[in-house]
Parts: sequence; structure tokens; C-alpha cells
Amino acid sequence: MNNVLGIETSCDETAVAIYNKQQGILSHCIYSQIDLHNKYGGVVPELASRDHIRKLLPLIDTCLKEANLTKNQLDGIAYTKGPGLIGALLVGAMLAKTLAYSLDIPSLGVHHMEGHMLAPLLEDKTPKFPFIALLVSGGHTLLVKVTTLGDYQILGESIDDAAGEAFDKTAKILGLGYPGGAALAKLAESGNDTYYSFPRPMLNKPNLNFSFSGLKTSVLHTWQKSNQDTQTKAHIAASFQSAVVDTLYYKCKQALELNDINQLVIAGGVSANKKLRSKLELLMQSLNGELYLPRPEYCTDNGAMIAYVGFLRLSHGQKDAELDLNNIDNQFSLVKPRWPLTELSKISKISKIDEA
Ligand code: KG4
Ligand code: ZN
Repeated sequence: MNNVLGIETSCDETAVAIYNKQQGILSHCIYSQIDLHNKYGGVVPELASRDHIRKLLPLIDTCLKEANLTKNQLDGIAYTKGPGLIGALLVGAMLAKTLAYSLDIPSLGVHHMEGHMLAPLLEDKTPKFPFIALLVSGGHTLLVKVTTLGDYQILGESIDDAAGEAFDKTAKILGLGYPGGAALAKLAESGNDTYYSFPRPMLNKPNLNFSFSGLKTSVLHTWQKSNQDTQTKAHIAASFQSAVVDTLYYKCKQALELNDINQLVIAGGVSANKKLRSKLELLMQSLNGELYLPRPEYCTDNGAMIAYVGFLRLSHGQKDAELDLNNIDNQFSLVKPRWPLTELSKISKISKIDEA
């Protein structure tokens, strides 16, 4: 397995990348649909699927050109099988399987969150197993103990809104557009993060779960009672961000201490947040441990993480079952809009990342 094409279409980003065994990521291309969905205040699933159909093939061509490869030099194709929007996932899955069939190479459907979680392994500094991963995206907030590739124990998760969702909903209250996480973080730079005292949810609970919906409601009430000027908006943004970051910080600290592990990986869209990154960096220094992060462009949805996980698993002989052209009815089982991370198959031969 030398060159693996990765295809990501789980939500509102059409993304493609090529991973090479010796050189790592050769090229990665992203087309974001944010402008398409912005006026609706959120992702419109049907529009997302149609746009993936329009953009995916030209993006694969561009990516191959940038990598200086032809289709015939590909050895495998990985695509996001789930979790995500069913229609959007189906576009990537059908294209990946059809292309693999025509090139007579294997395809493999991979888990979007495993992609996020292993994206830090594309950097120079990589963790060794076992490590704790904090996955913070628009749809998930998970604390995971990673023992080996595919052996994932969920230590805690959000019981309501995901961290990214809380950022997006709060940004919407403040009129910052969708998805508003990055815009809110930018605005927070000109605010005072102790101006308002928002709740740090679940910190007094003995478990590692999160809850962010009450925090968002508290922001809404504060906003409605305020004078709603620009400076107030910045104070709310900064104080909200601080509440989320503090909560994530304390739960990570607890997870690391309870499991006696001193390596922390953070990934997913919210891991692009500078305040979170610097606070967790301080945490790991205080614990004499290490923090591992993806570069900013691999924090949000991307094809590189899918190509990489696909490469790891395809290299260990995993592949999809043959495409059954006589049974079109089973096409919906090609994807898994809901797919717990704990259902993934374990590759126990790998004890260190370097052996992957
Ligand atoms: O991982 P991702 O790209 O997509 C999902 O799998 O959901 O994550 C997107 C989420 C959105 O909620 C977005 O607002 C949030 O990540 N996000 C941020 C930042 N950049 C993206 N949240 C806080 N601060 C940021 N800088
Ligand atoms: Zn994602």
C-alpha cells in the first residue's frame, strides 16, 4: 500500500487528500460549503449532498495533479463512512467504491472521529500508546482512552450539545453567522473573560461527562438583559469561551490523572481554538506530560485524516466487501450516519504508532 486517496464528505466540506507511505501527505484539497449554508443559519443536508456531487470529481483531479500522480498510481481509496449526514456520506462512499472498482484496487470506509483523533499523528511529534484524546467538534465532545489502533474506551461525552455546537449556537445569539466558532474566538480577543461569570457545567459531578446547553441558555439571558453593544458582545464571547475552555481543561486533567497517563491528544474543529490549545499546553507542562495537536488545517474537517486512517487500516489488510452491483437496495448500508467509536475493529499488532 503506497498511495491512498482519502475522501471526506460527512458534512459541509468536500475534502480530498493523498497519503504516501514514505512521504506522508502529498496533497490535500478542501472545498468549503460555508457560503452556501450561511444564509440558512446551519447546514441544509440536501444542498450539502448536491454540492458534494458537483465538487468531488474536480477536486480529486486537482489533488492528483498536485501530488503529481495519475489515478493508476493509487493503491487504495478511503472514504468517510460515518458518522455524518446520510446523503452527504453516500456521495463520497459511492464515488470511492466506484472508482476503486474501476481501478481494481481496495476501498475502505473509515470513521470520521477516528480520523480526527489520529490527525495529530501526521505531525513530527507523535504520541505513543496509550494516550487520552479529547475530541471536540461540531457534533461530538468525547474523552477517549486510546490503547491501540481501534481500541477506544469512551471515558466521557457530552450529554447534550457538543462543544462546537455550543460555540455555534452562542455565535448565532451574538449575530456572528454560521458556523461561528472561529468568529466568536476572534471576537473574544477584544473582551474581558472574567467580565461575566458563566457556569462551568458538570465540574462538581464525579464522572467525565460534559453538558453545554445550560451554558448557552445562560449566555442568551445575559445577552437579552445587556445593552448589546460591541464591547458587551466581546465580553460575552470571552467569558463564554473561558467557561468552555475551563470545563474541557478540568475534565482532561481528571481523565489523565484517573488513568495515570501523561499524553493528551486534542482534535476536531474546536481544537483550532487558541485559548484551548494554550490552556491545555499549560496543563500538560504542570503534569510533566505532552500535548499533541494537529496543525490548524487538520483540526477542522479534511481529507488528510481520512487518507491517513485509510492507509493504516488498508495496510493491515482491511478492506470493504466487493461492491454488489446487483443489489442496489443495500446502498444505504454503505454508510453509517450513527456509528459509535467503540464499534471499530482493533488492530492489536500495532503497539507503537511507528509500527503502523
Ligand atoms: O471537526 P469539524 O470541522 O466538523 C465536525 O466534524 O463537526 O468541527 C467544526 C466545529 C464547528 O462547531 C466550529 O464552530 C468549531 O468546530 N470551530 C471552532 C474554532 N474553529 C472551528 N470553535 C472554537 N474556536 C475555533 N477557533
Ligand atoms: Zn469533523
